Amino acid sequence: MHQLAEKSRMHYISGMNEKKGRTGKLAGQKFFIQTFGCQMNENDSERIAGLLTTEGAVPAANPEESGIIIINTCAVREKPVDKLYALLGRMKKLKQQTNPGSVIGVTGCVAQLKQNEIIQKMPFVDFILGPDNYWRLNELLSQNRQNKFVAYEWCKEWHEIDATARTSRISAFVTIMEGCNNFCSYCVVPYTRGREKFRPAANILKESKELAQAGYVEVQFLGQNVNSYRDPQSQADFSYLLAEAARIEGIEWIRFITSHPKDLSEEIAAVMQRETTICRQLHLPLQAGSNSVLKRMNRRYTREEYLEKIAMLRRYMPDISLSTDIIVGFPGETKKDFEATLQVLEIVRFTNIFSFRYSPRPRTAALKYPDDVTMEEKRARLIKLQSLQKEIQLKMNKELVGRSLKVLCLGRSKKDPLIYSGRNEAFQVVNFSSPKDVTGQFLQVHIDSCGPYSLRGKAVDLDVPV
Ligand code: 5AD
Ligand code: SF4
Repeated sequence: MHQLAEKSRMHYISGMNEKKGRTGKLAGQKFFIQTFGCQMNENDSERIAGLLTTEGAVPAANPEESGIIIINTCAVREKPVDKLYALLGRMKKLKQQTNPGSVIGVTGCVAQLKQNEIIQKMPFVDFILGPDNYWRLNELLSQNRQNKFVAYEWCKEWHEIDATARTSRISAFVTIMEGCNNFCSYCVVPYTRGREKFRPAANILKESKELAQAGYVEVQFLGQNVNSYRDPQSQADFSYLLAEAARIEGIEWIRFITSHPKDLSEEIAAVMQRETTICRQLHLPLQAGSNSVLKRMNRRYTREEYLEKIAMLRRYMPDISLSTDIIVGFPGETKKDFEATLQVLEIVRFTNIFSFRYSPRPRTAALKYPDDVTMEEKRARLIKLQSLQKEIQLKMNKELVGRSLKVLCLGRSKKDPLIYSGRNEAFQVVNFSSPKDVTGQFLQVHIDSCGPYSLRGKAVDLDVPV
């Protein structure tokens, strides 16, 4: 997963569950969820919110007025974990001073990884739920509050949560698998989300159809490694799931994250080429461009194999937009290794990258290597990488100036209410002026200028269907 973000004031739309909710066990209670992490965590929070609204709880604007406060955490890097501890300090004060009756829960990856530490050091935390145990939330909330509830057992099977309170009415996340079997040596995910578990294709397709009926036009399939997806009943693979989803009337754009280079098959490229509703956009984490680093990372592909995957994708779809994740300063990364990563950026010309300084994570295999690249050097490498990518993006974006692109409008720009904001098929941010509110619609935008991170333009031919 990528795009690590802190989403605090998420507005949940209770939608489909309202009817049962008014008489549920949590009727009249307010809840607040603070989310750290990637899209997967955002969708987990939406599912947690769905469970709560099913029992009648309603979303609140802030923790002060909430009876149930949940902090949904991410452990992938050190920074979000630090932020969690700072936030828990604030919640402790809140509970002591202004909101003594509140129930505070910690969910997600840190809950899984650090249950004992949280239980011992933070007695004001009332419950802890690991990612495999969200489905038990309402059972625990109806129990005696005096008893701390902790659930972090691994589940072998997929547990369906069929109530989701979403934050968008336009684009929806749909989780299709959970966990990871890859054990990249730097990554904590196999220890926080466990082994791969696949959601039945019938459930994924049912939810996607319901989303289309409710007016959603885009779905984003989520999982740590979506390419290894297998329907638990029929064993049908990810390309089958994509082909079936592409038939759903009303869903105009389908995206999926994250792909692992070793599992990205030619069948997937072929479905992406054939089905016009599958966006020609792919996030394919590279992590490093040097073979010796890749080997120590246990990525199980070489630089050459990665570049061959990119070439294969471009044979099918010359216009495909690619993004990636990069880690700088992995143990033992030499200047030459780092330069090999820079070279790959120049060869591939990604539309976007997400880049991170290596941080040692608990339980991971890479702990056996000394973290020997200094913080100063890691910082310098990150700056160099990002400035090279900035140049590449600016050049690529300039090539789009003067063209008209299909854009899905997601709402008004946060900075300027006269400007709308959306994404094109390549998943680039497009800000544009429009004579009328086109939120939730597809339209053509004429691009007149750009920066490295976004495109700017104006809406054209608003009465012509796109
Ligand atoms: N240090 C730095 N970055 C990491 N990532 C995962 N684990 C670490 C770590 N220990 C990055 C990878 C991954 C993304 C979600 O986070 O690039 O693809
Ligand atoms: Fe972590 Fe590697 Fe699995 Fe991605 S593929 S979640 S980086 S172990």
